[in-house]
Amino acid sequence: MAKRRHRKRYTGPDLTAHVDLGPGDHFEITLGEINDAGDTTAVTEGAPVVIAGGLPGEVVIAEVLKRFPERIAAKVVQVLQSAPERVEPECQYFLTCSGCQWQHVSYGHQLELKRNRVQREIDRYECLSHLEVDRTVESVKQLGYRNHGRFTIGKRDDAGQVGYVNAVTRQFLRIEECLLMDQPINDTLKLVQDRMDGQTQMSVRVGANTGSILVQPRMNISGLGVVTGEQHYDEKVRGARFRVAASSFFQVNTAQLSRAVDEVRELLDFDGSEVLIDAYCGVGVFSVLLAPYVRRVIGIEESASAIEDAELNSSGVENVEFIEGKTEVVLGTWPESWPGAAPGADIENGGMDALLLDPPRVGCHPDVLKSVKKLRPKKVLMVSCEPAAMARDLDLLCRDGVYRLEIVRPVDMFPQTRHVEVISLLTLQDSGDQDFGDNR
Ligand SMILES: C[S@@+](CC[C@H](N)C(=O)[O-])C[C@H]1O[C@@H](n2cnc3c(N)ncnc32)[C@H](O)[C@@H]1O
Repeated sequence: MAKRRHRKRYTGPDLTAHVDLGPGDHFEITLGEINDAGDTTAVTEGAPVVIAGGLPGEVVIAEVLKRFPERIAAKVVQVLQSAPERVEPECQYFLTCSGCQWQHVSYGHQLELKRNRVQREIDRYECLSHLEVDRTVESVKQLGYRNHGRFTIGKRDDAGQVGYVNAVTRQFLRIEECLLMDQPINDTLKLVQDRMDGQTQMSVRVGANTGSILVQPRMNISGLGVVTGEQHYDEKVRGARFRVAASSFFQVNTAQLSRAVDEVRELLDFDGSEVLIDAYCGVGVFSVLLAPYVRRVIGIEESASAIEDAELNSSGVENVEFIEGKTEVVLGTWPESWPGAAPGADIENGGMDALLLDPPRVGCHPDVLKSVKKLRPKKVLMVSCEPAAMARDLDLLCRDGVYRLEIVRPVDMFPQTRHVEVISLLTLQDSGDQDFGDNR
């Protein structure tokens, strides 16, 4: 289950105390730019306002959701002057639920907003700002694409009901279906709705290409019609089968994951002779699918369950092996940590030609980047789901000229939301400074 992230508490002056607006109040406002959370920003009576469901330049009636010392949070309830990119949201829960930020935005414009967000992050750094970010690769499906649903179970009057919690108001919202979910997830939701007494959360994962399903936790409900509490499910990507443990990561948009693998393969442009390191490899999707194009793949992953899956998923693939451990530790002790570094092993460039980094949202540990600059693989490809962390890490690799940023390509894994996956390619520069004594 997802851990709730705790944001840093605001400790500045109270900027909203003087405004006579409270939850439920309506006010007219002209909307400004979209912020990193996907909402529009504006000012009313000198106080900052963040408004969900709007577009820049629109004039709307907004309803106050909550007053914070640093901002008033509101949502659009009526559009008086509409932006050309506005479309009718398809979901009955849009803006009551906070999961989708952009159902009211045309899909083409969502792709543009994602590209612009990535460009803003890149432009913060001098050594990256030469680069024009590519157009966002559109998602095969714009609804029904999620293979993983995480739901909250209501308490007290809502006990036993399945739904979501609004991120601003913290109010529980019962839902009958979520339009982002693949159909088997919504079918499961119907089976368990109102029957979840005693539980706090529920996760449903499906194999979009296999029909396999994993419902957690185990439920003792008679006649439920679905098996719960299993330990694994299976998915197929580009014809290869992957077992995924309940605790292992898997991308939520299977069709788009196939596209991302194709993009990575195209950008790394293998000639078949390479040793590829797949760091943060999860259950081995990139390792297995890229193995036919290189000489050897070595995956690195800290999760024991994911490594177990990866070993199974690569059985029969001769040129793939995995190391269980933290990337920062494994690369920090490379090549000794590499089982292939036996006498006679090719350890030029640390024995690696290409390095794929696919870290979690926080990005790479600084020691990983330090090791990369020491080991100097010719190509580094970063897959990232948090543009700010990505740009910070790219800057650390490029700022002293060891690497040059060549391509940044957003891939839309998460239509209707502000979230974006980004693939970035860096190449090793001959002029790189080889002093690795500091912590840059
Ligand atoms: C974004 S997922 C990518 C997984 C895989 N590349 C894929 O596409 O399916 C990040 C993975 O990194 C793993 N991880 C997190 N921190 C790590 C670390 N310090 N060292 C190695 N693996 C780590 C997580 O368990 C997770 O499997």
